[in-house]
Amino acid sequence: MTAYPITDHSFDVIVVGAGGSGLRAALGASQAGLKTACISKVFPTRSHTVAAQGGIAASLANMGADSWQWHMYDTVKGADWLGDQDAIEYLVRNAPTAVYELEHFGMPFSRTEEGKIYQRPFGGHMMNMGEGPPVQRTCAAADRTGHAMLHTLYGQSLRYDTAFFIEYFALDLIMENGACRGIMAMCMEDGSIHRFRAHQTILATGGYGRAYFSATSAHTCTGDGNAMVLRAGLPLQDMEFVQFHPTGIYGAGCLITEGARGEGGYLTNSAGERFMERYAPSAKDLASRDVVSRSMTLEIREGRGVGKEKDHIHLHLEHLDPAVLHERLPGISESAKIFAGVDVTKEPIPILPTVHYNMGGIPTNYHGEALAGDPRNTEKTVPGLMAVGEAACVSVHGANRLGSNSLIDLVVFGRAAALRCAEKIKSNSPHADIKSGMGDEAIARLDHFRNANGKTPTAQLRAKMQRTMQDDAAVFRTGKTLATGVKKIGEIWNATADIKVSDRSLVWNSDLIETLEYENLILQAAVTVASAEARKESRGAHAREDFPKRDDKNWMKHSLSWADTAKRKVTLGSRAVHEFTMSKDIDYIKPKARVY
Ligand code: FUM
Repeated sequence: MTAYPITDHSFDVIVVGAGGSGLRAALGASQAGLKTACISKVFPTRSHTVAAQGGIAASLANMGADSWQWHMYDTVKGADWLGDQDAIEYLVRNAPTAVYELEHFGMPFSRTEEGKIYQRPFGGHMMNMGEGPPVQRTCAAADRTGHAMLHTLYGQSLRYDTAFFIEYFALDLIMENGACRGIMAMCMEDGSIHRFRAHQTILATGGYGRAYFSATSAHTCTGDGNAMVLRAGLPLQDMEFVQFHPTGIYGAGCLITEGARGEGGYLTNSAGERFMERYAPSAKDLASRDVVSRSMTLEIREGRGVGKEKDHIHLHLEHLDPAVLHERLPGISESAKIFAGVDVTKEPIPILPTVHYNMGGIPTNYHGEALAGDPRNTEKTVPGLMAVGEAACVSVHGANRLGSNSLIDLVVFGRAAALRCAEKIKSNSPHADIKSGMGDEAIARLDHFRNANGKTPTAQLRAKMQRTMQDDAAVFRTGKTLATGVKKIGEIWNATADIKVSDRSLVWNSDLIETLEYENLILQAAVTVASAEARKESRGAHAREDFPKRDDKNWMKHSLSWADTAKRKVTLGSRAVHEFTMSKDIDYIKPKARVY
């Protein structure tokens, strides 16, 4: 192995990732007086949170009645009863404070006539414990809420003493006797190798949408933290639950916010029919995302798709007042023009369900502490390791996340993780000595890929993986498609042994970085298809045509998945869903049929 010089750093807390959850965690830890670093592979304001459009859910009741209890009910139901209700209670009770905190940080929310934060309806958010009608709960900054939030949080984070390491690629966790001691990373600008030691490492590395061919996710969404956890021999949770957003632009995959339907937009098939009225008579176009995506897929399958190939659906906004489009939906009006050539004031937007969000990720409790996956004690945590945001599976989203519950998850649990660090760590407390060989495995892996000179270029393997995931782990799944997916992903994973990386340098080497990202993706693709094949029921975003019903008796449990990277094998286990709440203020919400 090449000898690489290592630059050492030590912090109380390191946060990997600078999206909404990472910045909120870093800000909170620094504010608490902890020596904090934030390590990010992109400039913070280019993190994928910037692309979130429609809003952030909190029961402010600015536009009519609302309560945290209603928000809780909707989130539990949206999750198809796979969410942990103690964590969901923590989320919804802390949501209003988190939004007011953003307001006080200077976030430029849209406003009502009286100057309150503007809130719009979003799918699955209802009044009266799910009974309806839809509630206006999603706080918005036009249709650029993530952009406004990320810039606000980055601005705030600069008030405190967070050390930013920007355009550093995290390679692997440093693990010692089952505890996390920090991470190894590479500076992409000059290829230097860095060892970051920390009392707590918080992974805020986002989702892995790019395991699929068509996703609303940025190209950087490769789930790097999830893969680091797998390589450390720790499990991921609920990886079979992949959300398809109903309205990605046909052909381009760019997001058209659910806020478009919140503002009065609706879907039609080739007969011009508002078909959602048949599938979800009460919520219609504002049913939860899994329900709308499945309904659209059925319309297309049954020959009622629009366009020459009858392979997509129309989203209509042309009946809305142009002033509303201009004020509330300026971003998607522009995207529709650029990516579909459509003037939304005159014609419908061609759209298709598109991969958008990973409900699964690193299992944590509601303090953000990572769970070890110990079958004797499923609540046992991994010392020194936390996860927040889309990388984490707390689990508040269960089998299906409600729109606008993601941005609120970022700030509520980013803050929770920082509070936990402040409780656990004494500022500037000493680190154990650096042991010889600490971080060597990460360097050996980097060295291996840097010198990989096999037959198959990374881009070819990645393309095969993305196509396989798109075809075999889609909106609807069967035992047959999933078995094919498991086999094909296994073959691609094995073929990684013969990968070809064309550039041997360490400096700005995009082929090497894309290879490291591809390896991260293939691990997650493998655990996703294996978990999906194993779950023999339909729940939330996991719709099995061969097992069309939810099966609470056998499957009301979180799946856990481990990847043996040497043997290239996945093993599966499970963890009980928390069938209890956090406080005595609300009872456990019992499962029932999920209709909208
Ligand atoms: O449709 C949207 O604006 C997306 C929001 C979300 O995923 O929470």
